[in-house]
This record gives sequence, structure tokens and C-alpha cells, in this order.
Amino acid sequence: MILYFTGTGNSEFAAEYIADHIGDECVSLNDIIKHRKAPVFHSEKPFVISAPVYAGMYPVIVTKLLRKAKFTGSKKIYFVATLGSKSCGAGYSLRNLARDKGLEFGGLFCISMPNNYIAGGNVPSDDDAEYKIKYTSIPLMESVSEIISAGETIPHTTGNAVSTVISEGVSSMFNKYMASSDAYTVSADCISCGKCAKVCPVNNIMMVGGEPLFRKKCIGCYACMSSCPKKAINIGQRSVNVNKYHCPKYKEWKEKGIV
Ligand SMILES: Cc1cc2nc3c(=O)[nH]c(=O)nc-3n(C[C@H](O)[C@H](O)[C@H](O)COP(=O)(O)O)c2cc1C
Repeated sequence: MILYFTGTGNSEFAAEYIADHIGDECVSLNDIIKHRKAPVFHSEKPFVISAPVYAGMYPVIVTKLLRKAKFTGSKKIYFVATLGSKSCGAGYSLRNLARDKGLEFGGLFCISMPNNYIAGGNVPSDDDAEYKIKYTSIPLMESVSEIISAGETIPHTTGNAVSTVISEGVSSMFNKYMASSDAYTVSADCISCGKCAKVCPVNNIMMVGGEPLFRKKCIGCYACMSSCPKKAINIGQRSVNVNKYHCPKYKEWKEKGIV
């Protein structure tokens, strides 16, 4: 069972690719979080988690959910991290998480994908993103699928107890002070379609009088900005000229024969 959390579609694409190549099913953690469903999972095949990296670690909302979750059936768990760079230091803490859940840690695989960090400004164009997915991300997904299919374990991880404490500190500061929608603005291009509210995994957006109203629960995933059909949501003026990247859908690429 592949469980994925995504803001802008990369981790969903990776999950769908791996599921298709190992013959397994995908479950959306966005749906579980958004609709407050019980995180109870049963699978006879290994569990595979696919999620983005925020400030060097898995998003806190994902690790919290995994710590609460009940896993039955398979005793093995793999972690896939999609990220803008090449590697992250989350392996040590995810190995501990697996141990605490009574699961065997199969490995952490970092898959470099288009960087969606709009606040950082270096989001690729759609063409560059497509190129990266085809020639960098997909070959990595293929190797990961083979390892999982073969049931191999890749126990070594980067990082140690000290670097993990530092990374977790940075990550929690990031979550506390930087993951916020306080500076978000909505331009006159908004057509009141409500898609932003629909895709927000934490129900941070309410439609009031046809306009999105942001509450105080934002986790900074950019699902709202990247799914807005009019690109009407911005971080003030700061992101106006930054591409609001959204990953293509794996199934659409498959139908078109791209993958
Ligand atoms: C809030 C935030 C923080 C991020 N921090 C990192 C980071 O520390 N390292 C990195 O390589 N990429 C970072 N990124 C880029 C994402 O990890 C990457 O684009 C990921 O594949 C997005 O996945 P998604 O489309 O499933 O949401 C960050 C993105 C966001 C939105």
C-alpha cells in the first residue's frame, strides 16, 4: 500500500508510478487528513510512504499522522521523499518512527523532482519541470520500484542523532514561523471557483462571499496556489512572477504514452 501526501502533485506522481510498477494500490493521506478519517491501514504488501521534504524533513503533519496510525498486515515500511535537491537528512528519524511502530525500516529513498518552493522563487518553468521529471525523477522512481518489488532493505541513512536533532529543530521552527498564509493575497482574477478550499489538505481556506479567506492553520504546501486556475493567489507581490508549478498527473502521462 502506497500512502502519499502532496501539496503540488510530485509525491502523488511518485506514489502512482511506484504503485503501477509494483502492482499495488495508492491511498491519499490528504484525504485522510482533510476529512479527519481514522488512520488505520491494512496491507499484506509493504507499506510505502511518499511525501515531500519541508525544511529537510517530512512535513510535521505527515509524521504526526504516521505516529498515530495503525498498521496491520505487512511488517515492512519504505519511505520515499520527493524534494527539490538531491537528498535530505530525514532517514534517521524515519527509521526511529518505523521502529516505534514495530515496523521494519526498508529504507528512505530521495527522489529529486521539480522544486515547488514558491517563497524561495526558484521554481522551474513547466517545460524545465517536465524535463526534470522525465530524465531525473522517473529513472529514480524506476530503481526504487525495483528495490521495493524485490523486497530489499536499504537500512543505511544519511544523518545521525545529532544532525537529526538539528534538522528537527529547523523543521519545527519552519513550521512555526514560516508555514503561514498570513501574507497571501487574492487578486481580482479570482473566479470564486472554490478549488483552493477544496484542495487545501488542512481546511485552512473558507469561501466567504465568493472569496477565499485564509485561517491560521496553513502548512505551506502551496496546493491552493498551484491549483488556482487563474493563478490569483500570491504571497503578496513576492510570487507574482514565480511559476505556480503543479506536477502533471501520472495517469495522464501514461495514457499519452509519455511514461
Ligand atoms: C514549505 C516547503 C519547504 C521545502 N523545503 C525543501 C527542502 O528543505 N529541501 C528540498 O530539497 N526541497 C524542499 N522543498 C521542495 C519540495 O520538497 C519538492 O518540490 C517536493 O517534491 C514537493 O512535493 P509535492 O508536489 O508532493 O508537494 C520545499 C517545498 C516547500 C513547499
